[in-house]
Amino acid sequence: MSKRNMRIAIYPGSFDPVTLGHLDIIRRASGLFDRLIVAVMHNQNKKPMFSVEERMEMLRRTTAGLPNVEIESFGGLLADYARRKNACVLVKGLRAVSDFEYEFQMALANRKLNADLDTVFLMTSSEYMYLSSSVVKDIAVHGGSVAGFVPDEIVQDIVCRTRKED
Ligand code: COA
Repeated sequence: MSKRNMRIAIYPGSFDPVTLGHLDIIRRASGLFDRLIVAVMHNQNKKPMFSVEERMEMLRRTTAGLPNVEIESFGGLLADYARRKNACVLVKGLRAVSDFEYEFQMALANRKLNADLDTVFLMTSSEYMYLSSSVVKDIAVHGGSVAGFVPDEIVQDIVCRTRKED
């Protein structure tokens, strides 16, 4: 297939850190599009546990078996980044009804900013409905085990980071 006809999708987020819920969406979306760019946002509003580079490295490790998945970072407007990447789709995971209103607003705003961009929502698998990066960090900070919440490959990264903060 020529590069011009490729269907490129972007899955944006903070991924601080990537969870099994994110990985579930990445796996399923990678089967739907020719290329999936997982885009780590530079977010000044959130105080991160991991730097953007660390988050990208953890994502690379956990998606190593998915050849059409690329890990990048971005700042500024997502709609502009999508244009630069020739992406036609944003992938978002929907966990609960509470996600819907915010995501609906974002999808409409992004489409207004970039008319060539559609947002595709994947329903999160039921076992990950409750999961967020903050839940994972809270468990780790309070000494709980994050195994079963995040990919096995990054459990130790989280243990080490929270130990340092003791
Ligand atoms: N599994 C596990 N957790 C999930 C999840 C899933 N399937 N889907 C969402 N989450 C969690 C995330 O871990 C995150 O948790 P946290 O708040 O504890 O860190 C939370 O849900 C919010 O996720 P998301 O909606 O993806 O927000 P985000 O902060 O990770 O990223 C952007 C939001 C990047 C999509 C958005 O801020 C953006 O587009 N920014 C660019 C600026 C811009 O263009 N603004 C105008 C938009 S109209």
